[in-house]
Amino acid sequence: MSDTRKKDAFFAKLEQQALMVTFGDVTVKSGYADFAPEEIDLSSNFSRNIRLKIPITSAAMDTVTGPAMAIELAKWGGLGVIPRSLTPEKQAEQVAKVKYHLGALNRNPRTVLTTDTIAEIQKRREEKGYKFHSFPVVDGDDRLVGIITRSTFKFCADESKTAGELMKRTVIHAPEGTSTEEAVKLMRRHEIGILPLVDNDLHQTGIYVFTEIIRGQKGQNAMMNVDANGRLRVGAAVGLLEDAQARVPLLHENGVDVIIIDMAHAETKLVGETLVWIKRELPELDVVVGNVTEGESAKRLVDWGSDGNRVGMGGGSICITREIAGIGCPQVSAVHQCEHAIRGSGVPTCSDGAISKTGHITIALGAGADTVMLGNMFAGTDEAPGEVVYYQGKRVKIYRGMGSLPAMLESASSRERYMQQSGVHLVPEGVVGVVPYKGPVADVIADCIGGLKKGMFDVGACSIAELHEKADFNRQTASGYAEGRPHDVTVTEASPNFRSEEQ
Ligand code: XMP
Repeated sequence: MSDTRKKDAFFAKLEQQALMVTFGDVTVKSGYADFAPEEIDLSSNFSRNIRLKIPITSAAMDTVTGPAMAIELAKWGGLGVIPRSLTPEKQAEQVAKVKYHLGALNRNPRTVLTTDTIAEIQKRREEKGYKFHSFPVVDGDDRLVGIITRSTFKFCADESKTAGELMKRTVIHAPEGTSTEEAVKLMRRHEIGILPLVDNDLHQTGIYVFTEIIRGQKGQNAMMNVDANGRLRVGAAVGLLEDAQARVPLLHENGVDVIIIDMAHAETKLVGETLVWIKRELPELDVVVGNVTEGESAKRLVDWGSDGNRVGMGGGSICITREIAGIGCPQVSAVHQCEHAIRGSGVPTCSDGAISKTGHITIALGAGADTVMLGNMFAGTDEAPGEVVYYQGKRVKIYRGMGSLPAMLESASSRERYMQQSGVHLVPEGVVGVVPYKGPVADVIADCIGGLKKGMFDVGACSIAELHEKADFNRQTASGYAEGRPHDVTVTEASPNFRSEEQ
C-alpha cells in the first residue's frame, strides 16, 4: 500500500545498521523552488477529520496548555490539547472556554432560566469566562421566552432581580435551518446582535452571533482553526477506560473536537479497549492515540481504529524515560518508521516531543509527520499556565514533566499515564524545570511558521504533502552539527528566535 518516497532509501540504509537518528543528526536537503514563500500552504490533518491551518499543536501538559494557550493557538490555525491532570469537570470547563470564545453559529448556546438572578448569572459568566452578555431566557420546559442583553446588566440597579423580571419578552428568532445569509439580513433589519434558532416547540437549537459572522466574512478569521459553527477547535486528553468514561461524555457535551488517548506507552490491550469503547459510543468523534515509536505499533493503533497516531517516547525535554526504563527511539527515525508503516491508511501522524528549534519542525514533517506537538517551545509564554518567577536572576516559568514526582503526587491521571499507582513507591519518568520567560506565545508561533515556511521553500515544497514527497535527508557528523550553529564568534546579540543551550 505504500508509495516510495525519496527519504525512504535514506532511512532504510540507517535501519540496516540499526541506527536511529534524531534532530541534531540530520538536515533536510535543499531543492528547486518555483514559488514564493508566501504561497506556501501549511494546512495539515491532526486526525482523519480534523484539519489544521498550521501543523502545530500544544502538549497536553499542565504547564503548557490551558484555555488561554488553546485559544491563541487555534486563532493562529493550530490546536491546543487540554491535559487530563484536571478533574473531568474542570477539563470540560476549559474546553467550553475555548469553544465559546467566539462562534458564528453556536450549537450549544448558554441559556438562563427565568428564575436565575442577575447576580447568579454574573457569577457564572465570571467563572466560565464568557465574554458575551446576551443570554436567551428559557422557562422550566426549556422554551424560549425572552432575552437579556448587555443593557440588562448595564442598567440593572438590583442584581437580585431575576432574568424573568428584566428580560425583553419579544425575542426575534428564526426557525432551525436558517442560513447564515438569511440570519445576517434579519439581524441587520432588527439591529440585533444574536439570533436564536428554534424548533417548532420553541426549544433552542442554536444561536447566530452577528459580530462573529461579520468577522468571518471580512476574512479576519481566515487563519483561525474553527469548526463548522465558527467556534475555535480544541482537543482534550483522556486516559484508560474508566478515566475516558468519566471524561469523554462531558468533553463531547462541551463541544470538544478531538480526543487524545494520552499514555506514555499506547500499544497496550487497555488502550485498545479504550479506543474501541470511545469509537462505539461516539463514532463521529475523532480519536488520536499515543504514544508509540515502532512501525508495528503504529499499524496496530490504525488496525484498532485510531484516527491519528502520536509518535514519541522519551525524547521530550523533561523526559527521563530512556534513563529510567531504557525505552524509546530517537525521534526522527521514530516518525519515519511510524508513518511508513501506515502510509496510505489516511491516518495522520503527530510528532510529539524533542522539538526545541523551529528547524526541527521542518525535519519532523519532512520525515513524515503531518503535525507536531510542542511542549518546551510553548512553555514559558504568557499563555502557558503558571506565574513568571525569578531563577538565578532571570525571569522564568516552571515547565514540568507529567511523569515528574510532583505531577504524579498531585494527579491520578499523571500516575496512570506511566502505569503507576498511589500508595506504592512512585517511579517518576520526568523532571521539574524552568524555561526562560518568553512573552506572548504569538511570537513563538510566528517564529515556528516563519522557520517552517523558509524550510519548505528551501526544499521546494509548497504544501505539507509536497514536503512529504520531496524531503530527503543528509546524515551529519558532530562537526557538521557544530558548523550549523554560531561558531568562532562571541554572540553579542542573541537572535530572538534562536536560543542555544549555553544561553
Ligand atoms: P517537549 O520536548 O516538547 O516534549 O518538551 C513534550 C512531550 O513530552 C511528553 N512528556 C513526557 N515524557 N516523561 C516523559 O517521558 C514526562 O514526565 C513527560 N511529560 C510530558 C509528552 O508527550 C509531551 O507532549
